[in-house]
Amino acid sequence: MNEPFQPGRDFAVDLDRGDPLARFRGEFHIPRRDNGEEEIYFAGNSLGLLPRRTPKYVDEELEKWRRLAVKAHFSGENPWMPYHELLAEPMAQLVGASSSEVVTMNSLTVNLHLMMASFYRPTRERHRILLEEHAFPSDDYALESQAIVHGFDPAEALVRLRPGPGRHTIDDADVADVLERDGESIALVLLPGVQYYSGQTFDVEAITRLAHGKGCVVGFDMAHAVGNLVLSFHEWDVDFAVWCTYKYLNSGPGSVGACFVHERHGMQPDLPRLAGWWGHDKESRFRMEPGFRPIPGAEGWQLSNPPILSLAAIRASLDVFREAGGMEPLREKSVRLTGYLEWLLREMGNAVEILTPRDPRRRGCQLSLQVKSIAPGRTVFERLQAAGVTCDWREPDVIRVAPVPLYNRYEEVHRFVELLRKAL
Ligand SMILES: Cc1ncc(COP(=O)(O)O)c(C=O)c1O
Repeated sequence: MNEPFQPGRDFAVDLDRGDPLARFRGEFHIPRRDNGEEEIYFAGNSLGLLPRRTPKYVDEELEKWRRLAVKAHFSGENPWMPYHELLAEPMAQLVGASSSEVVTMNSLTVNLHLMMASFYRPTRERHRILLEEHAFPSDDYALESQAIVHGFDPAEALVRLRPGPGRHTIDDADVADVLERDGESIALVLLPGVQYYSGQTFDVEAITRLAHGKGCVVGFDMAHAVGNLVLSFHEWDVDFAVWCTYKYLNSGPGSVGACFVHERHGMQPDLPRLAGWWGHDKESRFRMEPGFRPIPGAEGWQLSNPPILSLAAIRASLDVFREAGGMEPLREKSVRLTGYLEWLLREMGNAVEILTPRDPRRRGCQLSLQVKSIAPGRTVFERLQAAGVTCDWREPDVIRVAPVPLYNRYEEVHRFVELLRKAL
């Protein structure tokens, strides 16, 4: 996309003036530097900012605890027993699913293991797992441990996709080649929606179709995709997906994760799973009898009663997304905001290499930068920090920068590039 961008600050200020989502910045607490100025916060890919309304939502639950205590499970406004149900519809809308296909529970890695208990059912002939090289380490460990639990050697069982020579990202054609070659021995394809290090996306729909054609089960780690991209898990026919809510979903450090199970699986009560009482039929749960009968849909994978304070924070955040009109308008701004950042960086010359793909369809809001100046990347990153920029450093040599459409401005992008120029 070739937007007619211009280099001056006035241009950025004009873009902010014309931004229909500009008011949503006011919905967030923007961290401040010691001198009182607002930081340039480009780390929403790591921890999203606190929505101003979140304390109210959390306080309501604390107040119910104070006034009603155990009775709040069943009485008062929004009783705790079915509290997680309040999140199903708004979360499902964000990921393109029906509400019965989505549940908010546990954390990402726990959900990944739960999903693999059901969907990684290896046989001697078909037991391999396809993932990307340098996957997020938690995924790597989880997949490796699953192979071991099933009696396979991870060195053989894990098939790692690599970027071709001289490239930083994996092409969809690379995935297709591996599936063509090894598909019949692959039990599970587990890829990210957005790769955390490079910021590249994968074509979820095409990969799912190809992998299903080879008889593989397909799951996605959507930690960096939910709240960032427009998603259609149901239509894309993904078997399962897992994600967290503390990044683009602004729900607080370590907040509860979420999980998608396609209804074609969710409606099968006999599907093997690791079970707990919160996944048991709601009508009979409190009879406390043996004999697990799962709730139909993704809820049937719940184990424990959920942390309400964390769910309250997620509810607050999902309300902000709803008010912003959902992912379409946010993504429209995001493509422009990140496109502007990319344009300004390229205007600067060769001092910074952008590892993230150029095509907006192949990335979310994040750009991953490799510094090519005399000053080492780590030093440049530290100088940016000292100048009031919060972005993040990923070993060995990448600065990740994520302007988020809900609360970042074009003017901040402009200022960031000026500060980067100085830091170099
Ligand atoms: C891509 C990706 N996968 C998995 C995780 C692990 O998430 P959790 O600690 O919630 O299990 C993270 C955490 O940042 C992540 O970025």
